[in-house]
Amino acid sequence: MERWVLDLLACPRDAAPLTREGDRLLCPHGHHYAIVDEVPILLVSDAVQTHWVATDALGVAARGHADPSVAVGEGEIDPWVQAAIGATNGNLYRGVIGRLPRYPIPRFPLRTADSDVLIDIGCNWGRWSLAASRAGFRVIGIDPAFDAVRAARRVATQLDVEAAFIVGDARFLPIASASVDVAFSFSVLQHLAESDVAQTASSIGRVLKPGGLCLVQMAARYGPRSIVQQARRGFRAPKAFEVRYWAPSVLLGCFASRIGPARLEPDAFFSLNARPEDLDLLTRGGRGVVRVSKVLTAVARRVPLLTSVADSVWVRARRI
Ligand SMILES: C[S@@+](CC[C@H](N)C(=O)[O-])C[C@H]1O[C@@H](n2cnc3c(N)ncnc32)[C@H](O)[C@@H]1O
Ligand SMILES: [Zn+2]
Repeated sequence: MERWVLDLLACPRDAAPLTREGDRLLCPHGHHYAIVDEVPILLVSDAVQTHWVATDALGVAARGHADPSVAVGEGEIDPWVQAAIGATNGNLYRGVIGRLPRYPIPRFPLRTADSDVLIDIGCNWGRWSLAASRAGFRVIGIDPAFDAVRAARRVATQLDVEAAFIVGDARFLPIASASVDVAFSFSVLQHLAESDVAQTASSIGRVLKPGGLCLVQMAARYGPRSIVQQARRGFRAPKAFEVRYWAPSVLLGCFASRIGPARLEPDAFFSLNARPEDLDLLTRGGRGVVRVSKVLTAVARRVPLLTSVADSVWVRARRI
């Protein structure tokens, strides 16, 4: 583990600095965390987990070892990514599950010339982490899924992109206070319960430096696709990891009150996850959706009222 990463890590329970002793990270208050296959597992074992992958990772930490990481040949697409592409990138990528011809690394919406520190919360196999690293950031990807984090490390090595990846939970960020320039998250917090999102926003507020930026994608309640999805569920309360559709004012309030001045920006219409730069990977219908969405998103940037009917929005909050 590189020094700058270790220096940024902190106890997810009390934010105290951690020191490495063999295959453990120790907190001065008696908490300790396993490092398995060089992956620190910084989860709060007694919390109710948001996803079964966290329970799995805690099992790996308790055993202290994991199956060997798979070997990926040159030019091959990592088998984890082949299998997970529908889950990470959404339904419009279903045609390439198991037969991805390339890694869909998105265009990152921010740049830095100063090697700013960015955390990618819920990174899975790291598409946004890798994009952020290519945009100049020093990146730590964080996800509760041990196997996803190992896949992210493999892909980063394969593509020769520098980024660190650790196992952690958005609600208990295992990162030192006021140490991060950008907290980024895509297609993660929209799956969490409102109280977990509020806890995450507080955690982001703690780790951001004053003036630091929070940029988080969320699903918005009054988008046309969102309305259809909610109607399909009979407008019942969402369960488990189902998407939550936030009213724009509630979403803004949640982040503004815990981080600082916030605004919403349009991300997409009629879909939640597909990127315009991935047209070659989408289903035929998906390509049409994304083309129309791109035009509407550009219009909504000029006509802010339209953002309230976007399906996918960015929450941009600046830590005061
Ligand atoms: C739909 S995937 C999105 C992955 C990635 N951000 C992307 O856009 O490709 C959702 C991710 O959220 C992660 N996740 C679930 N609970 C989480 C939590 N409490 N904190 C952080 N990530 C979580 C899952 O393990 C999964 O990798
Ligand atoms: Zn501690």
